[in-house]
Amino acid sequence: MRRFSLSIATGALFVTGLALAQQRQQVDPNDDMGAAAQGERRPGGAQPPRAASAPQPSARQGAAAPAARAEATRAFLGLGVAPDAEAAKRGAPVFAQNCAACHGPDARGGIGPNLLYSSQLLDDDHGEKLVPFLKAGRPEKGMPPFAQLGDAALTDITEFLHLQVENYANRGTYQNVNNLLVGDAKAGAAYFAKTCTACHSATGDLKGVGARFRPLDLQRYMIFPERDGHPSRMIQATVVGRDGTVEGEVTKIDDFDIVLRDKAGVVHAWRQSDVKVTLKDPLEWHKNFAYRLKDKDMTDLVTYLSTVK
Ligand code: HEC
Ligand code: HEC
Repeated sequence: MRRFSLSIATGALFVTGLALAQQRQQVDPNDDMGAAAQGERRPGGAQPPRAASAPQPSARQGAAAPAARAEATRAFLGLGVAPDAEAAKRGAPVFAQNCAACHGPDARGGIGPNLLYSSQLLDDDHGEKLVPFLKAGRPEKGMPPFAQLGDAALTDITEFLHLQVENYANRGTYQNVNNLLVGDAKAGAAYFAKTCTACHSATGDLKGVGARFRPLDLQRYMIFPERDGHPSRMIQATVVGRDGTVEGEVTKIDDFDIVLRDKAGVVHAWRQSDVKVTLKDPLEWHKNFAYRLKDKDMTDLVTYLSTVK
């Protein structure tokens, strides 16, 4: 699941009041305060960003417009470069005609698997992995080859699929607030007890969470907590270089450079090629959560958490 687990990448880091946003591969050249953190190098080097991301205001106050919130969520979720909406639009009818019979009209599965959880898809960025897969298919398992559609149409399909995943992960940003609290609180409590108590407690760190957030924000932050600059949410790095090892909070990283602030507040900068970098993201668990969370569980959880006063 590279889109989440290997690319801490796109997480926009909210550093002490400065809203910084960036691309996975590349700090926005127009934003010299941009900070990007990156999990693993992608083979083949940098790819140009598909869409420029703008610094996002904090949505915690609820002031951000839905589109800005969606964009912020996308970045926070580590979803990577935004899918190409035009290509996705071209891909939609091609998908409907060639794939929907088996994978369902929204790619959520039929006699073929749900593609939103497909590692083939999550490991892919620009169709570079999916297109070859689709050309060859897996005929022995019932997935036909689609080489005859041609690279352009297959690339459009992959953009369509990436957009489906994105919409799925961004559910919280377009749901009607009034529909959020109609779940089964008891079932939500049970889900919480089973899944969340390894890290949280309703009487401890999440005490009062239902009073602190409006339902929509509760849903968003439950799926992916806001990267608000608090050390418990910042990506940490260990950098081993010629002069020894330094640990600290990542304030900037791109393909070439990494900048850390250590515990004493001292800022260090290196060329990435000179050092070995290990990143650790406290929000790693939450990055994968959106994909695993079923609609019903989400509604139940939000309904339950809203009662945690
Ligand atoms: C005749 C039914 C059928 C059609 C049509 C079909 N698929 Fe599939 N597809 C399958 C089956 C069955 C599998 C599971 C193969 C396996 O178990 O390895 C699969 C697997 C996949 C996977 C890999 C899922 C994973 O991660 O394991 C992707 C991606 C995919 N299909 C995309 C598409 C696309 C895009 C189209 C249209 C161009 C399409 N499929 C058309 C039946 C179909
Ligand atoms: C592996 C650990 C882990 C698991 C499991 C986990 N979380 Fe989190 N979660 C975190 C971390 C780390 C934070 C950031 C906490 C902080 O800054 O103090 C966080 C933050 C949150 C926040 C934001 C709180 C705030 O004040 O902004 C919510 C809500 C939340 N998690 C809900 C959940 C729910 C619901 C589940 C289960 C479905 C869950 N978490 C499972 C690690 C986890």
